[in-house]
Amino acid sequence: MTKLGVNIDHVAAVRQMRRENFPSLVEAAAICEKNGADSITVHLREDRRHIQDKDVYDLKDSINTNFNLEMAASGEMVNIALDVRPDFVCIVPEKRQELTTEGGLDVKSQKGKLLSVVDRLKNAGIVVSMFIDADVEQVLASSDIGADVVEFHTGQYAKIFRENGINSIEFKEEMNFFFEASQEAIRKGLLVNAGHGLDYDNIEQFCKVSGINEFNIGFSIIAKSIFTGLEMAVKNMKELIGGN
Ligand code: PXP
Repeated sequence: MTKLGVNIDHVAAVRQMRRENFPSLVEAAAICEKNGADSITVHLREDRRHIQDKDVYDLKDSINTNFNLEMAASGEMVNIALDVRPDFVCIVPEKRQELTTEGGLDVKSQKGKLLSVVDRLKNAGIVVSMFIDADVEQVLASSDIGADVVEFHTGQYAKIFRENGINSIEFKEEMNFFFEASQEAIRKGLLVNAGHGLDYDNIEQFCKVSGINEFNIGFSIIAKSIFTGLEMAVKNMKELIGGN
């Protein structure tokens, strides 16, 4: 059965708008866990626009499921991860000006640097994931450097779903990238996660890609929770992926 990881960055984004100490990330994580989340994700960005260093330590102490830290492959972030020891680290590309993570990590062109990052994290007992586009070459490069997991960036999938529709050629082509890349990853012994832009409308079609270990979903769940409460928002998403 495919698992649900909930990204709670946007709870911190609301808090940081007023530099207050609420809404509480620890409370948000606990509500997600109570209502079916299999893991909790935060992205500690270089500019600290939402998640702060203290959040990472507080969550490490409070999360009962699995704690997934998203981060750039920088020396600063690796040192924090080695100190905090989350269950999982997902290496993501990061640009200061972007609104959110745009596109997957180019593992193929920076294998040397990423190999040493993966090594250091794995030696500390952390399961390491690469956030990549659904591209067979990037899957093979991730396998070469010893990653345990690949997380496929589904941002383009979400865009095509919205703009072209599921009967378009573009949509079929996009799905084929996921079918091929996930099969290759599974052949290589990697776990396959997916996330970015997944929501209550587009998740069902994506579930046609078999073998997905976990979806990591943030924005749509936190946005829905404004109207339904976080409990219902998590429960509803869990139901939508539940049959897989
Ligand atoms: N996975 C990764 C690696 C991400 O960077 C993000 C966005 O922070 C997500 C999943 C979740 O994306 P969204 O907030 O659009 O659901």
